[in-house]
Amino acid sequence: MREARSFLRDLNFSIRWHPSGRKTNLLDSFKGPVLWYIIRLMNEKQPTFKIRNLDFYYGTNKALSQINMDVYPHRVTALIGPSGCGKSTFLRCLNRMNDTIPNTRLEGQVLLEGEDIYAPDVDVVYLRQKVGMVFQKPNPFPQSVYDNVAYGPRVLGLTEGQAELDELVERSLRQAALWDLVKDQLHADALGLSLGQQQRLCIARVLAAKADVILMDEPCSALDPIDTLKIEELIRELQENYTIVIVTHNMQQAARVSDVTGLFWLGELIEFNSTDTLFTTPDHELTEAYITGRMG
Ligand SMILES: Nc1ncnc2c1ncn2[C@@H]1O[C@H](COP(=O)(O)OP(=O)(O)OP(=O)(O)O)[C@@H](O)[C@H]1O
Ligand SMILES: [Mg+2]
Repeated sequence: MREARSFLRDLNFSIRWHPSGRKTNLLDSFKGPVLWYIIRLMNEKQPTFKIRNLDFYYGTNKALSQINMDVYPHRVTALIGPSGCGKSTFLRCLNRMNDTIPNTRLEGQVLLEGEDIYAPDVDVVYLRQKVGMVFQKPNPFPQSVYDNVAYGPRVLGLTEGQAELDELVERSLRQAALWDLVKDQLHADALGLSLGQQQRLCIARVLAAKADVILMDEPCSALDPIDTLKIEELIRELQENYTIVIVTHNMQQAARVSDVTGLFWLGELIEFNSTDTLFTTPDHELTEAYITGRMG
């Protein structure tokens, strides 16, 4: 049912915004969007992540309890909820970043394209390359703009020769909507960029490592409203080619950038629903109370 609703919404959107910009008869208007939607459905059939009965412990403190979630490609999934409810912990479970924290334990399954990422033979470096992360505070290396973006490809040996590396750096900076700004200062210190530009540089760094998934933990909370909007626009563009999961404290942001939203509460996933539904007619009273500011 949700699929059907989203289909109709997409179709309506596609017709209204048909790229040719010309007035067409109804059949013409339908052909492109329908084909596009069929291709999209075929791509979307498999979730990128299937999370099953996930529990997570810091020592004896249970931070996540029985989380079940499917995360689909070409959609933005937003995670909201009050401070300390487990959003960041959950995000870090998706690329095993919690492994670096001592005395932690995970139960349940996180399947990435059907493979258990916690299986003993998983190459964690490769996993974190494929599932990249952008943090709250931009964290470029104290190096040049170019070297920041080239870092992943160099360490991982993703390119052969300087020309190929140059090309990948340029492509990643273009995708992060930064190329025009930095193309004449590629060898300047990355820390000289504004905070918003630094955050886009961090996104370019993830893209250059040839990630398929981008995890973002409150990526705009250190940014001003204009830089925030730029990152939101970028998220919407990247959604075409990547799976994106974003943690945000800003409910307007979740409503603006995401297709699906999950509400966490005391380590549980209370509601996981289309963003439209969650913010208009949520299934749970707790969600209603949270989004209207009565709780949390
Ligand atoms: N490194 C850690 N060691 C021990 N406990 C931790 C650690 N990180 C988080 N926790 C605990 O796990 C629970 C969930 O924290 P988490 O940071 O995931 O919440 P959050 O929803 O991201 O909060 P916020 O919105 O404030 O960022 C909290 O009780 C927190 O104290
Ligand atoms: Mg957090």
